[in-house]
Order: sequence, then structure tokens, then C-alpha cells
Amino acid sequence: MKVTAVLLAAGQGTRMKSDLPKVLHPLCGKPMLWHVLEALKPATTEKPVVVVGHGAEEVKKYLGDSAECVLQEPQLGTGHAAMQAESLLKSKTDYVIVTYADMPLLRGETFKQLVETQRLNSGPLSLLTVIADDPRGFGRIVRKTDGTVEAIVEEYVATPQQREIKELNVGAYCFKADWLWAALHRIEKNPKKGEYYLTDIVELAVKDNLPVQAVVHDDFIETIGINTRVHLSEAEAALRTRINHEHMLNGVSMIDPASTYIEVGVKIGKDTIVMPNTYLHENTVIGERNVVGPNTIVRNSTIGNDCKILASVLEGAVLEDDVDMGPFARLRKGAHLKSHVHMGNFGEVKDSTLHEGVKMGHFSYIGNAKIGARTNIGAGTITANYDGEKKNPTEIGEDAFIGSDTMLVAPLKLGDGARTGAGAIVTKNVPDDTLVVGMPARAIRKLERKKKG
Ligand code: UD1
Ligand code: CA
Repeated sequence: MKVTAVLLAAGQGTRMKSDLPKVLHPLCGKPMLWHVLEALKPATTEKPVVVVGHGAEEVKKYLGDSAECVLQEPQLGTGHAAMQAESLLKSKTDYVIVTYADMPLLRGETFKQLVETQRLNSGPLSLLTVIADDPRGFGRIVRKTDGTVEAIVEEYVATPQQREIKELNVGAYCFKADWLWAALHRIEKNPKKGEYYLTDIVELAVKDNLPVQAVVHDDFIETIGINTRVHLSEAEAALRTRINHEHMLNGVSMIDPASTYIEVGVKIGKDTIVMPNTYLHENTVIGERNVVGPNTIVRNSTIGNDCKILASVLEGAVLEDDVDMGPFARLRKGAHLKSHVHMGNFGEVKDSTLHEGVKMGHFSYIGNAKIGARTNIGAGTITANYDGEKKNPTEIGEDAFIGSDTMLVAPLKLGDGARTGAGAIVTKNVPDDTLVVGMPARAIRKLERKKKG
């Protein structure tokens, strides 16, 4: 049995007031479109077909070869959009799920249930409905006195009585493929809007005396459709709750889930505590028993176990175990902090490895460097790595001691056990176990002390 999804994504999304196509607006780190395609995967057997139109090039570029694209030009409504998939799918699939790309919270389970219902239906289509108090402009489900579905009535043509109906059209349908292609051609242009409404297809089945089944959903949250940025923020909040609940059920603690922002795809081990106002982005992987935050941003980074990260920003970084960071530390791409590194306030590390047990307590910049195990980086140490043309490397051995405010002018090597005095400007390599000092202050004149007050 072949099941193929047709995702309608050609509409202009006028109400978003955006240059970005609506379906590419992100939710918890991934475009709306991605969420719908993910949810469709467990319910389908074939590559999905996406109907593109407005912003077609951008949408196609995003999709790559993850979907077949068909162009709808001009965009004459949802019925017309579905019709564009016919040439690609005719005689190639048994069932077609048609859904809208602006419904990113629908779950895989729900689509599976829709397909199951249609498989048992002798009629040509099943659709998803929801019972809700707030109609949000959705089409209303009109039922006959015997309870069977009779029609979907769009809000703007609904009678005052129909507007009171609490059962709404979610916008997910499963069709017998052959029936769908024929029926789409029978949909008439809506006289008011000049569009072909997919929703009119229900009446066609009813006219032919064919049963229409409905899967009635009670989770309104899952059926949030996005037409404006207000809806987008509602969907984001709902998705965030869903993601956070999953992590908490897997053993992650959150003091305040409402202010904990975790994108899809982030992995977190058990007994890690994520503190408030923390953002975990993209492909971040965090191990067990860490405390992350408050006020921390982690993007595309890997964190081992038993680390403490307070009020810091990490991007493209790797932390091994028992690392202690912050507040106000910043790791940029290529920063690798091995186990038991301590990095205190106002430090920045980029493209550098700090080996086991390195201590870097205050105000330092380490770039393009390798720092040997147990070395101490004094307050204010700077690797002067950039000569105006290229980045130069600094290498420091094990058990070295870099005095406060040392300037390490790269390229430069300091041996194991090397020491620098406070304020040293080091321009030449320092052998193992050697102390260098630079420019100590000397007395210039005697001062007269002014009495205060
Ligand atoms: C639609 C349904 C409504 C349902 C609601 C649920 C119709 C006529 N109405 O209304 O019953 O309650 O969704 O969210 O179907 N699209 C195209 N080509 C077009 C027009 C639209 O691809 O020519 C796509 C859009 O990109 C969008 C989807 O179809 O992803 C739905 O279109 P939209 O205009 O948002 O429909 P609604 O007014 O929300
Ligand atoms: Ca919509």
C-alpha cells in the first residue's frame, strides 16, 4: 500500500507581512515546513510532494531532494494547488494525504490515525477535525442529522448559525488517489473569491453518496495553524512546551521550563539541570549531571558530563568532563576545553585547545593556541595572534605559569614549566622551566601627596 503526502505550500502568506515565504519561518530552530514533513514521515511510504508557488525558489532550495516539488502558478486556491500534484502521482500511489504547510504542530501519530481511518473507509476520503471554542477562522464542519459529515463551510460564507459550530476543519485529509484526481477537476470556482477550494471536495463525495469519515481531535494545540506572527509565537510556545516535557520525562531538570529555550535536535543526558533563560541551539549535545545556565547560550556545541556553565556563550565548542565556566565566558568555534578546565569570568577562547586542568580565571583572550595540561593563565593574558594579515599559533607547554597581563606575541612557543612575569611582552620562544620578565616599572620622580578633604 503506497501512501504519498501532498503538502500545500504555495500560498503567499500575506498575513505574515514578511519577505520570507511563510513556510520557511522557523519554529524552535527549524522551518515550519520541516516540522510538517517530519510528522508526515511515519504515515507515508513515498517521497512527499510539495506544491510551491510564492517564494518557490527559496522553498525549493531549502527542500533540496528531500521532496518532489511542483509549481502552482498562479495560485488559485487549495483545490487548484492539490491538482498540481496529479501529473506526478497519477497511478503511482494508493492513498494521498493532503495537508497544509502552515500546520506545524500536527503529530506523526495523528497522520497515522488519519490513514488508518481511511483504509477502513469504503468511501473516498477521511478528514481531521477538532472541537474548539475559538474558531480562529477555520472552516466549520457541517454534519447531517444522522451525524455524518455533509460539508466544510468556510467562515466567510458561513451563516450565523454555522459560525456557532464548534467542530472545525483542521486541514489534513486522506484520499483514495484515483477518486481524488477525478474529483479535483469537478471543484467549481468559488464565485466570491475566484479560487478553487479543496474543502468543496467533501460535498462532491456526499453528492455521490460516498461516506466521508472524520477523525475528531480534541487537542486544539496540535491544530494551531499559522496565518500571522501572533499564531507563530503561539505555535513556538506550544512546541517549546512539547520539547521541554520530552526532556524532563527523560530525566532533565528545568527550574522554569517557560524560560528554557531548546531547539529540536538538541540532546541532553539525565540529571542535567537547565536553568532559566538558557538557549540551546542546533546540534548541541549535552551529557549527564551538568548545570547549564542561568543566562547561557549554547549553539552547535558538545558538552561532556559534570560541567558547570554559568551565564556564558558557547558556539561551535567542545567541553569534556568537569569543566567549570563563567560567569561571562565566551567560547567561539574550535574552542576545546578538556576535563577539569576552569575558565572564569570575561575570558574568550577561539580555535584553541586547553588541556586537562588548565586554569584561566579572569579576562583573557586565547586564540589559535594549545595550552598544556595544568598550566595557569594569569588575569589579562592575551595571545596576540593576528599580525594584520594572518592568524599565528601560540603553544604553551604543561605546568606553565603565565603571569597577569602577559602579551604572547604569536607565533610563539613556551616550554613545559615556563613562567612569565606580570606584564611581560613575550616575542621570542621560551625554553622549558625558564622565567621571562619584561619592562618592570621604574621610579621616575618623587610625588607630593595632596591631602584630601
Ligand atoms: C484553510 C482551509 C480551512 C481550514 C484552515 C485550517 C481551504 C479553502 N480552507 O484555510 O477550511 O480550516 O485551512 O488551517 O482550504 N495554498 C496553496 N495554494 C493556494 C492557496 C493556498 O498552496 O492557491 C496553501 C498555503 O500555502 C497554505 C495552505 O494552502 O499552506 C492553506 O492556505 P490558507 O490560505 O492558509 O488557508 P486558510 O485560510 O487557513
Ligand atoms: Ca492557514
